[in-house]
Amino acid sequence: MGKIGMVGLGRMGFDMSQRLLKKGHKVIAYNRSPDKVREIAKKGASAAFSIEELVGKLGDGKDRRIVWLMLPAGEVTEKMIRKLLGLLKKGDVIVDGANAFYKEAEKHGKLCEKKGILFFDCGVSGGTHGLERGYTLMIGGSKKAFKYIEPFCRSLSPKKGYGYFGETGKGHYVKSVHNIVEYVYLQGLAEGVELLDKRNIDLKKATEVWGPASVINSWLLDLTNTALKKPDFKKIGTKIDSVTISELMKTKNSVKGFTPAFDSSVKVRKSKGKEEKKFKLGKKTIAAVRREFGGHKVRK
Ligand SMILES: NC(=O)c1ccc[n+]([C@@H]2O[C@H](COP(=O)([O-])OP(=O)(O)OC[C@H]3O[C@@H](n4cnc5c(N)ncnc54)[C@H](OP(=O)(O)O)[C@@H]3O)[C@@H](O)[C@H]2O)c1
Repeated sequence: MGKIGMVGLGRMGFDMSQRLLKKGHKVIAYNRSPDKVREIAKKGASAAFSIEELVGKLGDGKDRRIVWLMLPAGEVTEKMIRKLLGLLKKGDVIVDGANAFYKEAEKHGKLCEKKGILFFDCGVSGGTHGLERGYTLMIGGSKKAFKYIEPFCRSLSPKKGYGYFGETGKGHYVKSVHNIVEYVYLQGLAEGVELLDKRNIDLKKATEVWGPASVINSWLLDLTNTALKKPDFKKIGTKIDSVTISELMKTKNSVKGFTPAFDSSVKVRKSKGKEEKKFKLGKKTIAAVRREFGGHKVRK
């Protein structure tokens, strides 16, 4: 089993560290807020209270050092990559697990390449259920070097749940497409809930009955049923806390993609006033289901 540094112990990084520890890897963990570092140390990780300490604990560079980032995409991840470039040596590895625009990964790949550091962009899916169910991983980067991170990917994911998709950028690209599909699925489920409600159909019953064998059965459908059953469902607001819309729009525009269903779902998520009123229950449903799979905030 290997040794890996995890940077970012939020909803994702904390449980990913736990899963790696359970599978027998050695994890050195760093987080901006030290409480989380202390917490993961209780689960068996080696605590690092600075990025310098994390890199130091990974070794002196004789053995290849692997650092996995689970931070917000954009400025935070970029700053951390630049900091790591000053601390790591040729042959070391950075994996970026954020939900980032794929062209960012291409830029980061080039930056790392200049220093001989191997960069992988890895889209992660599975949300707050990943600790038990495993994480789906979508990876881009050097094919030759993929073997260095593959043991960790295997441990993080369920059987057949990770894939190497090609050069740098392909991992984040596949994850963005996954998220575009997720938007469309959620919009479809929310439209179903809206329509059921128009005729006073029992929402919990219908989404439960659809579960076992219907052609629309899915994990998102099951989570819709769970969300509808939560005692606070009625109090959930229509605000959908998502930071990924602009990244996903950039992705589909950059390949001139034709995505009418996704475009509508974005329009609905952004709707306000009169427009929003037409789809209030639908938006509440989307917010509630996102809380179920990703621990995303809901407004009450
Ligand atoms: N949640 C999901 O379902 C999900 C699924 C797939 C991928 N992702 C992606 O995974 C990444 C992490 O998501 P998450 O859900 O774990 O987020 P999260 O729970 O909000 O955690 C964010 C992490 O980033 C750290 N952080 C935030 N701002 C920082 C800054 N300015 N400087 C240093 N560290 C900072 C936080 O540290 P503190 O503890 O100090 O705040 C925390 O460790 C994101 O790119 C997200 O898009 C999320």
